[in-house]
Amino acid sequence: MDKEHHMRAYRLTQGGGIEGLTRVDLPEPAPGPGEVAVRVRATSLNYRDLGVARRSAAAVIPLSDGAGEIVAVGEGARLAIGDRVCGCFMPHWRDGDVTPEYQRDALGGTVDGMLAEVIVLPAASVVRIPDYLSFEEAATLPCAAVTAWNALFEATHLKPGQTVLLLGTGGVSIFGLQLGVAAGMRTIVTSSSNEKLAQARALGAHATVNYREQEDWERAVLELTNGRGVDLVLEVGGVGTFAKSNACTRVGGSIVIIGALAPDQGGGLAPLVARNVRATRISVGSRRMFEDMNRALEVGGVRPVIDRVFEFEQALEAYRYLESQAHFGKVVVRV
Ligand SMILES: NC(=O)c1ccc[n+]([C@@H]2O[C@H](COP(=O)([O-])OP(=O)(O)OC[C@H]3O[C@@H](n4cnc5c(N)ncnc54)[C@H](OP(=O)(O)O)[C@@H]3O)[C@@H](O)[C@H]2O)c1
Repeated sequence: MDKEHHMRAYRLTQGGGIEGLTRVDLPEPAPGPGEVAVRVRATSLNYRDLGVARRSAAAVIPLSDGAGEIVAVGEGARLAIGDRVCGCFMPHWRDGDVTPEYQRDALGGTVDGMLAEVIVLPAASVVRIPDYLSFEEAATLPCAAVTAWNALFEATHLKPGQTVLLLGTGGVSIFGLQLGVAAGMRTIVTSSSNEKLAQARALGAHATVNYREQEDWERAVLELTNGRGVDLVLEVGGVGTFAKSNACTRVGGSIVIIGALAPDQGGGLAPLVARNVRATRISVGSRRMFEDMNRALEVGGVRPVIDRVFEFEQALEAYRYLESQAHFGKVVVRV
């Protein structure tokens, strides 16, 4: 590829927060042996990207999630020009259990991410996207959807008919809802907003609870399960919600520890050990999980829920919008 070609991109500024997001023009990268160059068509934001911007120790190109088409193929790469692909959140995690080595490199965190016109990736760390999905839709998958998949079908083994609790209506939770509905599970969704709860019911949520109107929402969840509790919680709240999640999980049920959206209420550990639950912390997922999930999405005809699409020049507005938590599902930036 001609070295004189430049591309549009963004970089974070060290310690600059989201306001430090800076438009730059960079030389277009070319793939080496075993690599591919992807022309990025759309990217999407995750809660994590707000934290990365705050903590950023280097001027990295942000965002783990994006979709595009291959425009150049290095020697020995197993893909073809024109293939529609996503990158994997952790470029080196292909299959098996996660390791510290895999966790060290994550797109848009420790290595350059997707908020650029072109990204070069190892051919083995991209995944073909289902034909029925647009680039905007596919761009939402690598972090939030794979995490929800991992929580439902890898870290735990839920069966159709069992009940899963989704906290709030952000990216991970809405994918958890859609995948759970597609797999025949009973789903309960909480939210701060009745409007968002109506949207969740339209997507198939069996029951909903407003956690702002009802501070003891765990009691409402228990009532919805006739006092038994849910089989699984996708725990995106962290220490601020864990005690309540635990209180409405059935004895012997599971909690998958994913996030830290909720402020610490200082509840202590005492209520957490009483119910014999399995609590498992997960880290997004492997390429194999991504590929398995794509098959399931295709069979179910599941379409990612995109709240808003921003243009490339509006990337900072997209960050601010995600931060406002006005969104339902995913926020996308077109490239
Ligand atoms: N471990 C992993 O592999 C992994 C992977 C992905 C994400 N995560 C983590 O998982 C969390 C969710 O990520 P995301 O990208 O899906 O976030 P997101 O889209 O930014 O989710 C924001 C939504 O979360 C809900 N929320 C906020 N505070 C809440 C609270 N106290 N209780 C219940 N819901 C609350 C709100 O929904 P309502 O407006 O409906 O109330 C809000 O709109 C983050 O902490 C993220 O870092 C971890």
